[in-house]
Amino acid sequence: MIFYFSGTGNSLDIAKSIGENQGEKLVSIGRVMNDRKDYYEYILEENETIGFIYPVYAWAPPSMVIEFIKKLRLKNYKDNYIFSVATCGENIGNTMKVLDKALNKNGLKLSSGFSIKMPNNYIVLGNVDSKEVEEHKLLAAKEKVKIINEIIRNKENQVFQIDKGFMGGVLTIIVNPMFNKRGISVKEFYANDNCNSCRVCEKVCNSQIIKVTEKPRWEGQCTQCLACIHLCPQKAIQYGKGTEAKGRYKNPNVKIKDMEII
Ligand SMILES: Cc1cc2nc3c(=O)[nH]c(=O)nc-3n(C[C@H](O)[C@H](O)[C@H](O)COP(=O)(O)O)c2cc1C
Repeated sequence: MIFYFSGTGNSLDIAKSIGENQGEKLVSIGRVMNDRKDYYEYILEENETIGFIYPVYAWAPPSMVIEFIKKLRLKNYKDNYIFSVATCGENIGNTMKVLDKALNKNGLKLSSGFSIKMPNNYIVLGNVDSKEVEEHKLLAAKEKVKIINEIIRNKENQVFQIDKGFMGGVLTIIVNPMFNKRGISVKEFYANDNCNSCRVCEKVCNSQIIKVTEKPRWEGQCTQCLACIHLCPQKAIQYGKGTEAKGRYKNPNVKIKDMEII
């Protein structure tokens, strides 16, 4: 069983490739969390492999992934093989340690972990990659997935093929808490006059906090997956002053329909 979280399709793309190869079904954390239950129970088959695939946000897993793990109940769990893949624009710091800690608190243990560089979608500060860089990353990712699939199939333990980045561990400790506290404010989101009320933003919002009447309104807290900005067909959605002039990104191997939460 593979649990995935994705804003712009990179992590879903990887989850689909690994899921098909390993014969594991996919479960969308965004969709499941939308049920707002106290806990989520899954019955495991004997020796079933479990995966967590998600984008890295400020050098750690998205807060929704950590919340989901807290509420996860795996029936018949007997030290099953658990792997994790973090997709990132560049590097992931101590993301795997943060994930393992969350799993440990719930009596689970990470067996192996990987990072895969994918096209960047964090346009709040930076910009999307050039077409050349995007294509290069997607091609390299395909090769990396082949290697990861071999490791998972053989249930190799304690293999950590990750790019922590320079001072990555420090960034996880210092920047991630600041990001989770202040960086994810929804106050800066708005839709400009290009908005035609199509409601795509409402459907793809992982946190389910967007309501469209004439224009979208963001009510509540979000994980800042940026699905609303990137998947808006009119390029109407903005964050603060900086995003009007920036590019938009959607993984070419997924459809907007695949990304819908509701
Ligand atoms: C809020 C936010 C924070 C991010 N932080 C990082 C980061 O710390 N390091 C990094 O390499 N990429 C970072 N990225 C880029 C994404 O991890 C990367 O583009 C990922 O593949 C997107 O996956 P998705 O398409 O499944 O949402 C960030 C993206 C967002 C939206």
